[in-house]
Amino acid sequence: MLAISEAWAVSWAVGLQARARPRSRRVASRRSEVGFYVVATTTRLTIGETTLTRIGLGTNRLTNTPENVQFVREAVAAGVNMIDTAHIYTGGESEATLGEALSTAPSDCMVATKGGFSAAEANTDALRAQIAESLHRLRSERIGLYYLHRIHPEVPLEQSLAVLAEHRDAGTIGHVGISEASIEQVERARAMVPIEAVQNHYNLTERRHEEVVDYCAAAGITFVPYFPLRGGGPPELDEIAARHEATPTQIALAWLLRRSPTMLPIPGTLSLAHLRENLGALEITLTDAEFEALM
Ligand SMILES: NC(=O)c1ccc[n+]([C@@H]2O[C@H](COP(=O)([O-])OP(=O)(O)OC[C@H]3O[C@@H](n4cnc5c(N)ncnc54)[C@H](OP(=O)(O)O)[C@@H]3O)[C@@H](O)[C@H]2O)c1
Repeated sequence: MLAISEAWAVSWAVGLQARARPRSRRVASRRSEVGFYVVATTTRLTIGETTLTRIGLGTNRLTNTPENVQFVREAVAAGVNMIDTAHIYTGGESEATLGEALSTAPSDCMVATKGGFSAAEANTDALRAQIAESLHRLRSERIGLYYLHRIHPEVPLEQSLAVLAEHRDAGTIGHVGISEASIEQVERARAMVPIEAVQNHYNLTERRHEEVVDYCAAAGITFVPYFPLRGGGPPELDEIAARHEATPTQIALAWLLRRSPTMLPIPGTLSLAHLRENLGALEITLTDAEFEALM
């Protein structure tokens, strides 16, 4: 099994802090700038000024226990710095755990949260209240990335986005994203406020959003596939994994990384071993034939 080694992970984290951030281009290109850690093609991308490892962490099962606080800290030490949560996850415990674990974390750790999952939660007052509660739970004065969690026929997209734009202007939200959106909806959102990330259901077997993936790549918008591991994959997955001495999970993630340079999967896990295994996908380069076989 290919796994990220502990020494490699630590030097990765140190390296991330030490290196200069790219200013103009969103996607870090192939480079071999610092000798003490491995840098493969597009292992990072940037949102605003933050350079992100292209494998994040999903936290929709995270409960507020001392073990999970420690797990989040160790996940960051292992090299993850995009952490995905939402106002509704585990009744608020996910956000509270991240607040407890990360309130003193380095500034290159981006916590993304979401609000407006139900129609009742997407109107102006409800969304403002959720943002205030998320800031409190996260123990922060600023949320790095805030997504509108769902778009509802009953609540105009523009009404919800106006609240996010207002918070972005005030500095309480750094960047704005949108979840489960079509290209047309992303374009409407972009007319209101810059959209830095789109988070849609996408993986080897769920491919409804191919055009959104391509649109985001062309526009320099980060595409965050949620449920990146769900559904397994085609029969070729196991064979390709064996060839790389990797796990099928790693190959599924490597395929997503190759599918678009602005893709940043957020596999959910409560296991540090699985998290390290998932980061190991950054080291896998699929051949054209392998990529096509899974396409
Ligand atoms: N925007 C939205 O509407 C939306 C909807 C759903 C989810 N999300 C976000 O997307 C994230 C990912 O979704 P998800 O966590 O539900 O599904 P997922 O990432 O596709 O799969 C998570 C499952 O895979 C297992 N797993 C993770 N790494 C593994 C590995 N290396 N080997 C074997 N098993 C592994 C996990 O168990 P272990 O704990 O045992 O590792 C868990 O059972 C969520 O956490 C959430 O942040 C967003």
